[in-house]
Amino acid sequence: MSDQELIQAAKAMLKRSYAPFSHYAVGAALLGSDGQVYTGCNIESSAYTPTICAERTAFFKAVSEGKREFICIAVTGGRIDADVLPITTPCGVCRQVMMEFCDPRSFLIFCASSPENYKAYTLAQLLPKGFGPSNLGI
Ligand code: THU
Repeated sequence: MSDQELIQAAKAMLKRSYAPFSHYAVGAALLGSDGQVYTGCNIESSAYTPTICAERTAFFKAVSEGKREFICIAVTGGRIDADVLPITTPCGVCRQVMMEFCDPRSFLIFCASSPENYKAYTLAQLLPKGFGPSNLGI
C-alpha cells in the first residue's frame, strides 16, 4: 500500500465523522505490519469528554482485533465547510496512544491535506522523549 493510498483511505473516512459540536471532521487510516488497514473517524459526544479522535478510533479498532504492530498512519481533516483541508496533526493524547504500540523512531505519521500534499513525521518527532512501555521495562 502506497502513502497516497493510505491517505486516500483516511480521506474516505471523513464522511463517517460525527462532529456536530466542533464541525471539524477527521479521518485516519492505520497500516498494520500484516498489511491490513484499520480506519477511524472522530466521534463527538453531547457530554463532550467522551469524544474520541479518528486516530484512537483506528488504533482501538486494530488492537481490539488482536493487532499490535504498526507501520504508519495517515491523518486528514478540517472544518466540514472547508474547500481545502489544512494539515492536521494528532493531538497529544493520540500521540501517547501511538507510543504504547509503536516504535517512536520508525513509526510514521502522514499529516495530509491531500494525497499529493502531506508531511511525514516519525512519532519521535511529534512526541520527543515520550514515555512508553520501555520506561516500565515492558
Ligand atoms: N480530532 C481528531 O480526531 N484528530 C486530531 O488529530 C485532532 C482533533 C478531533 C477531535 C474533535 O472531534 C475535533 O477533531 C476537534 O478537535
